[in-house]
Amino acid sequence: MGELRGTHVPVLLERCLELLAPALDRGDRTIHVDATLGLAGHAEAVLQRHPRTVLIGLDRDTEALAHARVRLARFADRVHLEHAVYDELPEVLARLGYPAIDGVLFDLGVSSLQLDAPDRGFAYAQDAPLDMRMDQTRGVTAEEVVNTYSHPDLARVLRVYGEEKFAPRIASAILRERERARITSSARLAELVRESIPAPARRTGGHPAKRTFQALRIEVNRELAALESALPAALDKLTVGGRMVVLSYHSLEDRLTKAALTDRVRSKGPVDLPVELPGSGPTFRLLSRGAELPGEAEVAANPRAASVRLRAAERIDPDAERQGRADRERPRRRVRAMHQPGTGSADPGSTGAGTDEEGEGRRR
Ligand SMILES: C[S@@+](CC[C@H](N)C(=O)[O-])C[C@H]1O[C@@H](n2cnc3c(N)ncnc32)[C@H](O)[C@@H]1O
Repeated sequence: MGELRGTHVPVLLERCLELLAPALDRGDRTIHVDATLGLAGHAEAVLQRHPRTVLIGLDRDTEALAHARVRLARFADRVHLEHAVYDELPEVLARLGYPAIDGVLFDLGVSSLQLDAPDRGFAYAQDAPLDMRMDQTRGVTAEEVVNTYSHPDLARVLRVYGEEKFAPRIASAILRERERARITSSARLAELVRESIPAPARRTGGHPAKRTFQALRIEVNRELAALESALPAALDKLTVGGRMVVLSYHSLEDRLTKAALTDRVRSKGPVDLPVELPGSGPTFRLLSRGAELPGEAEVAANPRAASVRLRAAERIDPDAERQGRADRERPRRRVRAMHQPGTGSADPGSTGAGTDEEGEGRRR
């Protein structure tokens, strides 16, 4: 294992710990899953704060796991580190004998270890072989994608995963170049992208190759498909009172996170019924209003935090919630019946946390 490259500051660490604490402080032993262990910054802090918590740490990158193992060595008696893609969580839990969990954190995307590695090809600013696999033991590389995909497929990847408006032009440049010679290095690809973007557009929106590299990384690692199945699977494993926190770094990840949480905080019952039917009520409540953004101090201390969006939710017992709501509403209905015939009831005790209509992107 080589030296750690670059420094790594866990993003929104205090906020994550604050959100997870009520779930992990309960009972004799609680189970926390770090689905994206990385260099174990968040994981180490959780283990320090919660001496009775068992940590299950997943990462698809064997190098990250090796670093995390060293960092967490002093907690070895309550740590399981697993080489897995996070959508394999149910199988990992079954193998380890944990039917349910109390906390789960997803800190999505690449780690500073991966970005700073001179040999892994994630960074457009460094010349390296075009690999970009988080798990270097399997899967296709970015070099294979760039040199074998058809024009429509390449353009789709760049447009959808990179939100790149010059996707067809970049795809055409890639196809022209690969007829001449195979594209094997990140520097050559970055140069091709720069050349295919109109000069005025090169001067805005950061490095011109940023979106192409993001798109290829997402494609190579099948990131969105894994996330789309991992989030519901992890939510299903949480106990009542258990909590999930997700840190996303681009709108595609955040959109999937929002959709997974919205699905659970909405009632599944008929909209026109005054009461919730058994089993149809929300199974989660949101802990974040919209997506939380980092404060200025956080971004100044940790530039990687600049694009983060945090969402969090807690599992609730829908039937207890339904009963509680019915109990709260009964006396109010009688008062209304005396003074305001015909008006519907609004629950003054509600925080509105069952909805996601509180706006997006609140800075902390
Ligand atoms: C941003 S880093 C996590 C940093 C970590 N929270 C810390 O404090 O050190 C994301 C990590 O998640 C891993 N990862 C990304 N997608 C994954 C997936 N689908 N399954 C498992 N691990 C994944 C990456 O390999 C990377 O190490």
